[in-house]
Amino acid sequence: MTLILGIETSCDETAAAVVADGRDIRSSIVASQIDLHRKFGGVVPEIASRAHIQWLNDTIEQALDEAGVAGDQIDAVAVAHTPGLIGCLLIGVTAAKALSWAWDKPLIGVDHIQAHLAAVSMTLPQPPWPAIGLVVSGGHSSLYRADDFDRIELLGCTSDDAAGEAFDKVSSILALGYPGGPAIDRAAQSGNPKAVSFPRTMLAPGSLDFSFSGIKTAVLYHVHGPGKTSGGLERLGEQDIADIAASFQAAVVDVLVAKTMRAVEQTGVKTVTLGGGVAANGRLRRQMADTCAERGLTLHLPPMSLCTDNAAMVAGLGYHRLQRGYTSGLELEAIA
Ligand code: KG4
Ligand code: ZN
Repeated sequence: MTLILGIETSCDETAAAVVADGRDIRSSIVASQIDLHRKFGGVVPEIASRAHIQWLNDTIEQALDEAGVAGDQIDAVAVAHTPGLIGCLLIGVTAAKALSWAWDKPLIGVDHIQAHLAAVSMTLPQPPWPAIGLVVSGGHSSLYRADDFDRIELLGCTSDDAAGEAFDKVSSILALGYPGGPAIDRAAQSGNPKAVSFPRTMLAPGSLDFSFSGIKTAVLYHVHGPGKTSGGLERLGEQDIADIAASFQAAVVDVLVAKTMRAVEQTGVKTVTLGGGVAANGRLRRQMADTCAERGLTLHLPPMSLCTDNAAMVAGLGYHRLQRGYTSGLELEAIA
């Protein structure tokens, strides 16, 4: 059995987890900083990195305690070292290096987005590859073809805002609060997704890239009036807000599902996986499930706890990287 300690500090969650053999989650601690950032309406990088410094040691200790293992029983330390906020990544990378050195155990640098992509494999008896993986988070919207844990091809990505960023900004326009994704998801439940016709930006025929800045601007002008960036919200009732949230969400989900199907058609791969915070979205999960069922495709959805940022996915992918001989030296760098 191989026990991996995973560490995740790329953005606003301080997280540590202990995972056995890449699948068996012995503990997964996520200390969310949402309350620290709420009054600013978004993540403040300096506050986030300071909170990581304050919380990380306790979070790691709690992960080891809950798993019932001592530090020297850990076989390797995996850490998300890219991409993310540089000051935040540095805290996790430095802690991981210190533990790897003190325990004399391998250090494994893990790509945060690849960890989101691979997270669903932790719930399956066999890895789902080959698969088309849609990773949608606050920082990224990407489509991958994965043939193995270390054979990953980027098929398309966003040319401007990430899907989660669009949810967060639209939530802010509608004054629904922070973080925006869950707030829109909730408000949309009582809204009519056909109430407002927002653009579905598909880009060039065959393109697997995304663009979400147009829809964000469309919502902005719909609320404030053409060409305006403030005012007008007071004219809208609760039902109007719910309708806008539902219509926005429907447009984003239509694009995400359509592009995923384009990737399926272009590659012939018959398995689809989701990952990242936006993969927690109710409408995306339902619509992707319905579409895959209609087309006879296999869909694997991670549970909510593996969608948003966590360290179990970092330890999980760390295991597969260790198995394939990828370890990092103490010169491992944090890369924004
Ligand atoms: O993967 P994640 O936790 O962090 C990053 O790597 O960015 O993703 C966070 C993003 C945020 O933009 C948040 O608003 C969005 O995921 N999100 C959702 C939902 N839950 C979280 N978006 C839509 N619907 C949700 N239910
Ligand atoms: Zn993430």
